[in-house]
Amino acid sequence: LVIVLDFGGQYNQLVARRVRECNVYCEIYSYKTDIEKIKAMNPKGIILTGGPNSCYEADSPTYAKELFEMGIPVLGLCYGAQLMMHILGGKVERADVREYGKTEVFVDKTSPLFGDVSEKTVCWMSHFDYISKIAPGFRITAHTADCPTAAAECQEKGLYAIQFHPEVLHTPEGTKMLYNFVRNVCGCAGDWKMDAFVENSIKAIREKVGDGKVLCALSGGVDSSVAAVMLSKAIGNQLTCVFVDHGLLRKNEGDEVEAVFGPDGPYDLNFIRVNAQERFYSKLAGVEEPERKRKIIGEEFIRVFEEEAKKIGAVDFLVQGTIYPDVVESGLGGESAVIKSHHNVGGLPDYVDFKEIIEPLRDLFKDEVRKAGLEMGIPEYLVFRQPFPGPGLGIRIIGEVNAEKVRIVQDADAIYREEIAKAGLDRGIGQYFAALTNMRSVGVMGDERTYDYAVALRAVNTIDFMTAEAAELPFEVLQTVMSRIINEVRGVNRVFYDLTSKPPGTIEFE
Ligand code: XMP
Repeated sequence: LVIVLDFGGQYNQLVARRVRECNVYCEIYSYKTDIEKIKAMNPKGIILTGGPNSCYEADSPTYAKELFEMGIPVLGLCYGAQLMMHILGGKVERADVREYGKTEVFVDKTSPLFGDVSEKTVCWMSHFDYISKIAPGFRITAHTADCPTAAAECQEKGLYAIQFHPEVLHTPEGTKMLYNFVRNVCGCAGDWKMDAFVENSIKAIREKVGDGKVLCALSGGVDSSVAAVMLSKAIGNQLTCVFVDHGLLRKNEGDEVEAVFGPDGPYDLNFIRVNAQERFYSKLAGVEEPERKRKIIGEEFIRVFEEEAKKIGAVDFLVQGTIYPDVVESGLGGESAVIKSHHNVGGLPDYVDFKEIIEPLRDLFKDEVRKAGLEMGIPEYLVFRQPFPGPGLGIRIIGEVNAEKVRIVQDADAIYREEIAKAGLDRGIGQYFAALTNMRSVGVMGDERTYDYAVALRAVNTIDFMTAEAAELPFEVLQTVMSRIINEVRGVNRVFYDLTSKPPGTIEFE
């Protein structure tokens, strides 16, 4: 076990994730965690994360000096590095220039952290303060043009400080440095794998739930599916999954979800499918304003879910497929600051009678959730499903939603996805889908004039879905998709490709 002590940096989970990539198990704790608790966990190493504060200010996050005297290797990153120096008798001051961005760094290859790292490499810097004097017993092991102490260490005591961020990909050799720390300095065996995470989680859920009843809102998306399967493996039919088909799903998606989670599927759980299409369409009739549409869909979803929950009666736990990026976006990410409030379907139902929430995927990134899914034998097409917004096709149909428009966008989207997969592009694109513009225009088909809808195709590449760029799809693929949509989907006579990046566009159309 390696413990990551969170001092409020944006990258704390990324640190944990890199450690897991070295096949070493790690857990994140707040810097407020008592030292006795840390000791009791008997970690092989401790990593202090970055953070937004200045360690020399009175009320800044700090830690007991004893942390550095337990004989357990400690690696401080950014704020963590400064704090280590500050506590152990070095000096940290405000720098004249803020160092930010990719920076060339010169490392001392005799350091155990940098043995296999290039002498001149690139690192990601983001700091106002700098270490102006290292603590006694330390030596400097890296510097940049502006930063005399980019890294320092006291090998005998197993203490290491790195001013930059080895955990981000902008530090190309950063993973090596973290590997060197956890595997070589701390001596972790590196035998932790996703299967262990899955196994431990299942065990922990089983203990927590006991013989209690658990309710899960299953959307068929990756996260809720993986969470549901994990629960089912832990507690079998003590779990009930409610799947609301709001009629705004992709083509055949409702049946696909039912095939996997329903009574004919491989999992032991109670599956309830609610076919609420008509309810949603009638609520949406005549509504054009995007935010109102979102609200109606979100609220109706909750009403339907609540009605089902009432039939089931009181439960002990409610499962949420929250994953780490959701936690960060909602500003609940440990010590880190709010970025934006997450826009998921409506939030929590008011009157579901439950005692506690279970979030088995809360610490994982999307690709780790997928790995966990594969580990549990969930079919690949489900595990590699694209992100799909809670309001579904409702926000991919501009303007009023009705059954006819849903059919058009479902059919066009299915063709688009089929062709993308055929071209072998499906895993390489961040998100892609067809949307229905509310525009109709004149065309000619056979010898006849048509006046039909235009479909927009969207495909974006993105790292975090906060910014995105249009993907450069091969023209032949676009052409095939266009001609198939126009030939096969009644009501469409024009196809556009959306080139807009985010910002200024958003990924979805509403
Ligand atoms: P935008 O359109 O905001 O989308 O650029 C960014 C990402 O978020 C997804 N998205 C949603 N996901 N509920 C969700 O669960 C929502 O209401 C919602 N709106 C957008 C979108 O598909 C994209 O991946």
